[in-house]
Amino acid sequence: MAKTSWGAPVELERMQATNLIELAGLCTGICDFDKSFNRILGFMLSYFLDLLPLMLRKMKTKDSFYIRLINPMPMSYLDQIASPTLVIDEKITRANLEKMANKAIAQGKKLVPHWKTAQSRIIGNWAKDYGIREVTASSISLAEYLCGQGWDCIHIAFPFNIREIPRLNRLATKQGISVQVVNSATAKALAEGLTEQVEFFVELDAGYGRTGIQSTDEAELEAIFKQASGSEFLKFKGFYIHPGHTYYGKDMDKIHLESQEALAKMKAKYLHRFPKVVTRLGDTPGCAVREDFGGVDELGPGNFVFFDLMQVQLGSCTKEDIAVCLAVPVVDIRKDRKEILIHGGGVHLAKDVLIYENGSKNFGEIVLLNDKGWTIPSHISFVKSISQEHGIIQASDELLASIQVGDLLGILPVHSCMTADCMGSYLSLDGQRIDHAEGRIN
Ligand SMILES: Cc1ncc(COP(=O)(O)O)c(C=O)c1O
Repeated sequence: MAKTSWGAPVELERMQATNLIELAGLCTGICDFDKSFNRILGFMLSYFLDLLPLMLRKMKTKDSFYIRLINPMPMSYLDQIASPTLVIDEKITRANLEKMANKAIAQGKKLVPHWKTAQSRIIGNWAKDYGIREVTASSISLAEYLCGQGWDCIHIAFPFNIREIPRLNRLATKQGISVQVVNSATAKALAEGLTEQVEFFVELDAGYGRTGIQSTDEAELEAIFKQASGSEFLKFKGFYIHPGHTYYGKDMDKIHLESQEALAKMKAKYLHRFPKVVTRLGDTPGCAVREDFGGVDELGPGNFVFFDLMQVQLGSCTKEDIAVCLAVPVVDIRKDRKEILIHGGGVHLAKDVLIYENGSKNFGEIVLLNDKGWTIPSHISFVKSISQEHGIIQASDELLASIQVGDLLGILPVHSCMTADCMGSYLSLDGQRIDHAEGRIN
């Protein structure tokens, strides 16, 4: 094992520090180290203070020379957590990406994940390791955030808002981009306003009435194609269906088959006019469990990157597949009521909830944090109510027996996309900050 200049053991592999909290820890460590070295340490400390501005600039990466030299103890990511923090397990995230990518490849489909879940450039780089070349954004802001990261194309899968055409033109000068069109008024505005190449999907109504054109509405479809044919910039790319009613717990196979058939019909009908037309189908419950996607060209699920308790309930994954958990500090314990009060509420978790048959509510399930990540206890404890900042855990006897005020607990979220959006950043298990488009560092 390597040693520092004063002989303390150094585990080079695990050493890292990314912020001032670690610097503070370092100073404390130095002061306590050994009284007989006080004078030497005093000298070293003044030397260290001289170097501080330079070190602060250089110590942003875990490979920093200064961190390797001076940090005698490897730090746990847990030492960085004082307030609610979204923790990400890279291994689980990569396994989720790899599994879906392999499924798509095995069926000859292109996987274009919806990046509304992760909303991160760094996690985007992990996705590229599995051959993923394109992503979907839920807004033009997210598309702007992901622009310039080497994506072949970013699709904005929200019915396009024509007030954003100037932003779209700016984005399209730098990035392959496609948008979602659900009416001829939007197609007309795009045809008139675009100054750069932009492709578009026509979104078809999957049958639950959220968005999209009825596939039988030929007049509207023709009106859209007519607008596009008059533009040198607006190009038809294909048909898109998001069968979101798989979330309502109805017959998943039936829903997916209906969507596949609708896409196949549309492709067959328009192929002679648009020989390059593609079809895209995307939702996590369907893509996670089904193996056969028929003639669909592209898959566009998003939540599978992290999964969550809602997906566990729908049968898309197990709790072990959930890649993020919210670390929250314990602020009070009520043993008489078997309750634990945490700093972690709606502004951190979002307000998504599972409601059971007996009427009880679950805003997230408790996991036990450790230096390597978290474990799922066999005795279930869950967040039974939340307000803006507060959360109240219904705790098992086992949890109550082991917990103290000031401890940290992990919460598996009900809806990971919303929790990530609330939190605006991630902390990895090796103590690195991972970006999120919302960009808030706690
Ligand atoms: C248009 C569209 N496509 C794809 C997705 C991804 O679906 P999921 O969250 O089930 O992965 C969504 C999710 O909201 C969506 O709105």
